[in-house]
Amino acid sequence: MPLIVILVECGMELIPKEIRKHSAVRKNLSSQIYASQILDNALHHSAMKNLKNSEKRGRPDITHLCLLNALGSTLNKTGNLSLFIHTINNKIYEFNPEIRIARNYNRFKGLMAKTLIDGNIKVNGKHLISQFEGKLQDLINKFKNPEIILFSSRGKLVNDYKNLFLEALSKNIIAIIGGFQKNTFSEELLRLSNNLISISEYSLDAWIVTNKIITYYELSHNIQ
Ligand SMILES: C[S@@+](CC[C@H](N)C(=O)[O-])C[C@H]1O[C@@H](n2cnc3c(N)ncnc32)[C@H](O)[C@@H]1O
Repeated sequence: MPLIVILVECGMELIPKEIRKHSAVRKNLSSQIYASQILDNALHHSAMKNLKNSEKRGRPDITHLCLLNALGSTLNKTGNLSLFIHTINNKIYEFNPEIRIARNYNRFKGLMAKTLIDGNIKVNGKHLISQFEGKLQDLINKFKNPEIILFSSRGKLVNDYKNLFLEALSKNIIAIIGGFQKNTFSEELLRLSNNLISISEYSLDAWIVTNKIITYYELSHNIQ
């Protein structure tokens, strides 16, 4: 079984109705351009100030960088990675390992707007992005007897990566990484596992953590 990576509470959503009339939003919004429909703190900062939970929202760039790191990895190329994102609005999407995510940020936002609107991305009859209907717990229940690791700077520090993935390749390991910039996991997330692990004395960016965990897993299982 592959390593299962879930990026959780990603700041990825369509611009919410309550701020669609704000001047900072209207300036960039066009119904013809998919990318303009995505909430982005870099463009909509002033409009976002009064949004609930705003520090975790409007950061599609974080998801973009994490996806590029994960999908470009050897682990993915060898068919040993299962990748999901969970958004701040509790939508869950699975990424086909064969998808080639746009390197260009605007094109990526366009793809994600289409995903959030249509639910799935299908090309030549193949699903490249598929919506998972259900909650995170339902997704986790799909995997037999998994070890669930919540990666957090507040977790127990594991200094040596060799102590991180001790189980055989056949074990289902679910690595949960926050796809947000500030704050910590929600209560719902913290209820998923008591196994909170830190991989550094520093709080790292989500895409660095994604890269490190995947690399550690590759090294632990001799996947190059
Ligand atoms: C930018 S951090 C979120 C901010 C939060 N202060 C933190 O450090 O957890 C994004 C995600 O990266 C992961 N992360 C950051 N630093 C980490 C560390 N030292 N060990 C393990 N995971 C870490 C966590 O999953 C976190 O939710």
